[in-house]
Amino acid sequence: MAERILITGANGQLGTVLADALIEKYGWENVFATDIRIPEINRHAISILDVLDSQKLEEFVFDKQITQIYHLAAILSAKGEQEPLKTWDINMQAWLNVLETSRKLNVRKVFYPSSIAVFGDSAPKNPCTQTAQTEPTTVYGISKVAGENWAQYYHKRYGLDVRSLRYPGVISYQSLPGGGTTDYAVEIYHAAVKGQVFECFLEENTTLPMIYIDDAIRATLELMDAPTEYIKIRTSYNLAGVSFDPSEIYERIKAIYPEFQITFKPDFRQKIAESWPQVMDDSTAKADWNWMPEYDLNKMTSVMIEHLKVMLGKEKSVI
Ligand code: SER
Repeated sequence: MAERILITGANGQLGTVLADALIEKYGWENVFATDIRIPEINRHAISILDVLDSQKLEEFVFDKQITQIYHLAAILSAKGEQEPLKTWDINMQAWLNVLETSRKLNVRKVFYPSSIAVFGDSAPKNPCTQTAQTEPTTVYGISKVAGENWAQYYHKRYGLDVRSLRYPGVISYQSLPGGGTTDYAVEIYHAAVKGQVFECFLEENTTLPMIYIDDAIRATLELMDAPTEYIKIRTSYNLAGVSFDPSEIYERIKAIYPEFQITFKPDFRQKIAESWPQVMDDSTAKADWNWMPEYDLNKMTSVMIEHLKVMLGKEKSVI
C-alpha cells in the first residue's frame, strides 16, 4: 500500500520545506499539506485543517487514508510566553488529537518535532547529553517535554510508531520563522542581503545550537525511514548541526558584506536563550540511525546568502 502523508502546520518554517521533500518522495497525490490558513502563494495546495478539532482530524485521516502524520503545528518559545495557558492548550490538545486519531485509525508512523527548549538551567550546556534533565523554562518547552512523554506512552502502550527529534534553531531561506528565540539567526541574513543594519535581540556572546534546513529535513526523513529496530529512543533524539553566537555569525556575514553592521538590544528572549544548551550532543542519533550533519557556519552562510540574493531580488540569476 502506498504511503499517504498528512502534514499539519505546513505553512511554517519547517513545513514549507518538508512538504516539498515529502512530495518529491511520495508524489503530489499522496501528500496532504494542511494548516489553519491558506497562504497567499499556495504552492503546496494547502488545505485547511484545524487539528484542535478532533472530529475534523479523524474525518480527514479516514477520508484520505493517511498512513503517516508529520505534526508540525505548534506555538514557539517566544510567542508562547505571551499567552502561556493558551499555548499549553494549543500545543498539547493538538498533539493528543493527533496521537488518538493515529491510534484509532492505525496510522503507521507519526513524526513529532521536539526542541532544544526541553532543556533548562539544570542541563549541561556544552554538550547537552541525550538523557540530561529536562526542566524547561518556557511553556513551549514544557509542552514539548510533555509531548515527548506522550509519544513514548503511545508507543509503549499501543505500539504506535512515533518518532521525534529535538531540533536546534532551524535556519532557512524559504520562509521566515515566527515567534522563536532562535529567529535572529535567520533575520540577520535578510538584513545583510537587504543592506540594512541588524538589531539583534540577543547579546553577542549567546551561543545556541542551530541547524541548516537541508540537514533538518534530511534528519527527519532519515529518522522516519530508519528500520524500527534502530529507533531506541521513543521520547525524542537530540539533534545537532552547528553552534555559534551572534558575533560569530555576524563576522562570517561581514566577510561577504564588509559594510554590514549590527547593534545589540537584548530583550526577554535573552533569558530564554540563556536557559538553553549551547551545544547538543547528538551521539545517540549518530549511533542509532547514522545521523551526520553536513552544514557548518561557512557553508550555511554561503548558501543562505546566495538564495536570499535571488529571492529578495538583489540578483537576477536563478539558482
Ligand atoms: N526555534 C525554536 C524557538 O526558538 C526552538 O525550538 O522557539
